[in-house]
Parts: sequence; structure tokens; C-alpha cells
Amino acid sequence: MDRSRGRGYNLLAMESQPGLDVLFTGGEIQAAVKKLAAEIREDYQGRQLLLVGVLKGSFVFLADLVRFLNIPLEIDFVWLSSYSRGRESSGRIEVVLPPRCQVKDRDVLVVEDIVDSGVTSAFLMEYLDKKKPASVRLCALTDKPSRRQVPVKIDYLGFTVPDKFLVGYGLDWDEKFRYLPDICVLEDEG
Ligand code: PRP
Repeated sequence: MDRSRGRGYNLLAMESQPGLDVLFTGGEIQAAVKKLAAEIREDYQGRQLLLVGVLKGSFVFLADLVRFLNIPLEIDFVWLSSYSRGRESSGRIEVVLPPRCQVKDRDVLVVEDIVDSGVTSAFLMEYLDKKKPASVRLCALTDKPSRRQVPVKIDYLGFTVPDKFLVGYGLDWDEKFRYLPDICVLEDEG
């Protein structure tokens, strides 16, 4: 196996994206996701999990998380939209796609790529809670507490991150950069 291959790919990507600084490498992210999976597997022993990924940003994290979990579970998605185009939140949540699985009486674990203002997660936890699950918890890969506007309890957290605009590993800027294997800081143009 060529262990330099992933890194080489990243370097190529970085060379063509000069405004990006790596915050967490793909390897560091994998280690964090593996640790989260071990914690979750332990907590949900003997229970049938329903993971609810929040589109679009969580799709990469969710895909890695379920493979590290490697236990019987179900996967569903909700598509919420909180950001307008560009960097600033519109502050308004729209349920673009509601969950299709039955949530009632299920052990639900919401999977988010980032908790920023907290508006999206707070909305979703309340939205799901109204559907009377057996339990509902939140797993977030990254948390930006300096931006919090509403309180959110994160049950499983990968990284606390600084108040920088992050892209990669599912996170986007105007739909760009989601494919990057690293999480990078997008530098201000100014
Ligand atoms: C991002 C992210 C979270 C939300 C967090 O989604 O995936 O769902 O913002 O922000 P908040 O804590 O300030 O509410 P976004 O609406 O950018 O859409 P995306 O997942 O398609 O990138």
C-alpha cells in the first residue's frame, strides 16, 4: 500500500487552492472518527441505532462513522438549510427534506459536520423530539463554541474549532471544497 498517496493527493489539491491552510489532516480526522465510533458503540450496546445525517455537510463524516461503528444500524438523512450563499447565516431554517424513517420509539443519533451558531442543531433536536423518539442525541465532528447563539448539548464531539471559516471533509463554501480529505481554513480574501 502506498502510504504517501493520500498526502500527495492533498498536496496537489493545496497547490491548486492557495487560500487554504490545513487545520486537521485526513489522518487526524480518521483517528477522531474512530474514537467517536468506539464511544458510541459502547453506549448503544444492545440497541438499534437510527443515525440521522444532516445534509449536505455531514455526508463524508457519516460515511466514515458508520464504517468505524460497524454495528447493525439504520441511516436516514434530513436536509436542512441554514446558510445563505457565501459566509453568513441567513438565520432561518428550512426543512428541505424531512426524515423518511419512523423516528417514534427509536434511539436516534443526529450526525452533524459542524455546530456553529447552534441554530440548526437546536432546531433539529426539537423537531425530532416532537416525533417522540426513545432517545435523541447529537454527534458533531466539529464545534465552534465562539459563534454560539443558542445553547446546544453535543453528546459526542470530534474537535473544538476556532472561529475561522472551515472547508473540506464535507464542509463547503458556496458548494466548493466538500471533497477535500482534510479540514482546512479558508483564508479571507481581504
Ligand atoms: C451547516 C452545517 C450545519 C449548520 C451549522 O450547514 O452542516 O448543519 O451549517 O450552522 P449553525 O450551527 O450556525 O446552524 P449548511 O446550512 O451550511 O448546509 P450544508 O450542510 O449543505 O453545507
